[in-house]
Amino acid sequence: MKKPISIIDILNKKGKERIVMVTSYDATMTKILDATEVDVILVGDSAGMVMAGGDTTLGVTMDQMIYHTACVSRVRPRALVVGDMPFLSYQAGVEEAVRNAGRFLKEGGAQAVKLEGGKRVIDQVKAIVRADIPVMGHLGLTPQSVHAFGGYKVQGRGEEAAMMLKENALALQDAGVFSLVLECVPAAVAHEVTEALAIPTIGIGAGPLCDGQVLVIQDLLGMSKEFKPKFVKRYAMLFDTIKEAVDAYAGEVREGTFPADEHCFKD
Ligand code: KIV
Repeated sequence: MKKPISIIDILNKKGKERIVMVTSYDATMTKILDATEVDVILVGDSAGMVMAGGDTTLGVTMDQMIYHTACVSRVRPRALVVGDMPFLSYQAGVEEAVRNAGRFLKEGGAQAVKLEGGKRVIDQVKAIVRADIPVMGHLGLTPQSVHAFGGYKVQGRGEEAAMMLKENALALQDAGVFSLVLECVPAAVAHEVTEALAIPTIGIGAGPLCDGQVLVIQDLLGMSKEFKPKFVKRYAMLFDTIKEAVDAYAGEVREGTFPADEHCFKD
């Protein structure tokens, strides 16, 4: 039985060992991930896009996120399970934020939550941490702000924006987050933020000098033909593998060669 990874293990990796994080939303994928050496499984609100087919992450609900988090946690993976707080589950107020964060642990079986934003959600972060719920921060291109940003654009470009990003990162660290996702920021800025913090940073489109990296599992596995942002590397092309397998099955069904003798029950 492998020793489960805790937030202390994640904190201790800073400066020693890079952190590997991927997303998962269901038990089958989580069982496969549990056979690997990933450190953190993020049940991302990207579920609203890759699982539910939305154009943005904005539509995914608390109940849907709890469902996906419970599907992942039921596997009892060795990796730390982090539940992603969806749009409007924490922005409106501190009490609602604490109650919703608590649901990820109580009903979802997660060990921590992630939420997007810096100083503007700092009261929520402090209150959730005070309730003994570990929090992962998320700065840079925070997808829940896509309309405020005017699209999916690199953030933290230019001296002022980079300074603001660093200030927000330090504020989140002071508020008690145990790690910080940096999404789509220039590599040099992510490096500077990483150097300035005692907690680990986990990058996505933020260059190689973060303390760890995260990718959406469907992107990493090449499960979409169309979606391939610059920061994604496909380590497999499962779209083609799955298509070939299903085409082969369909062919055998149509020609009557599946099921064969070995797939049939005898009297
Ligand atoms: O929802 C998500 O999958 C995320 C990661 C891309 C960091 O927030």
